[in-house]
Amino acid sequence: MIIVVGIGPGDSALRLAGTEKYIERADTVIGSTRQLAAFPQVPQAKKKVLPHLTELQDYLQANMTKQIVLLASGDPLLYGIGTWVSKHFPADQVKIIPGISSIQYLFHQLQLSMNDCYLTSSHGRQPDFDFLLRHEKVGMVTDRYLGPYEIAQEIRKRGQHRHIYVGEHLSYPDERISKYDEQTVENRDYGMNVVIITNA
Ligand SMILES: C[S@@+](CC[C@H](N)C(=O)[O-])C[C@H]1O[C@@H](n2cnc3c(N)ncnc32)[C@H](O)[C@@H]1O
Repeated sequence: MIIVVGIGPGDSALRLAGTEKYIERADTVIGSTRQLAAFPQVPQAKKKVLPHLTELQDYLQANMTKQIVLLASGDPLLYGIGTWVSKHFPADQVKIIPGISSIQYLFHQLQLSMNDCYLTSSHGRQPDFDFLLRHEKVGMVTDRYLGPYEIAQEIRKRGQHRHIYVGEHLSYPDERISKYDEQTVENRDYGMNVVIITNA
């Protein structure tokens, strides 16, 4: 059985109650180094660093009789590994436990309504900015190649005006939330971040 567990943005206090039992019963817990570090109670021998997806698929197929927990940051089905797992494995062999998405967390820190929000990602992909900017409110997970500065340039190129909120290292002690517009977004190294774009 593969149990995909959403671990929220990072702070263990933001994990859903009930998640722990899956971790306790797991034969193996797979995740990134950062995700595994959030579970100091899991013996090292049970931890496995997330390999490339082809290797992961082989490993999971070979270990279906075991309880394998696969950690997912935020919510597993919002640009997370849950989508990949549900595509590659039969539904009756998979359980997906939700988590608080980093986007959802940022909306709440800003006390902005999520109603009618368009959710997307630039993590390893190129979003369609013309389509994206037709929406009044956008929540976006990013990566280091297409982050806040590059997003602002796409908005500027189209002569549009937007509020741009950036949440870095959300729920960690060095969390940083900044408000910009397409002119003021800094060209700097951002930490792991999500962006909310609203119509100015
Ligand atoms: C593969 S996506 C996973 C998104 C995740 N499923 C979610 O619901 O938040 C990874 C991206 O999520 C965002 N992210 C995840 N945790 C974050 C955090 N604590 N602070 C800021 N961004 C975060 C970053 O944009 C990161 O590049």
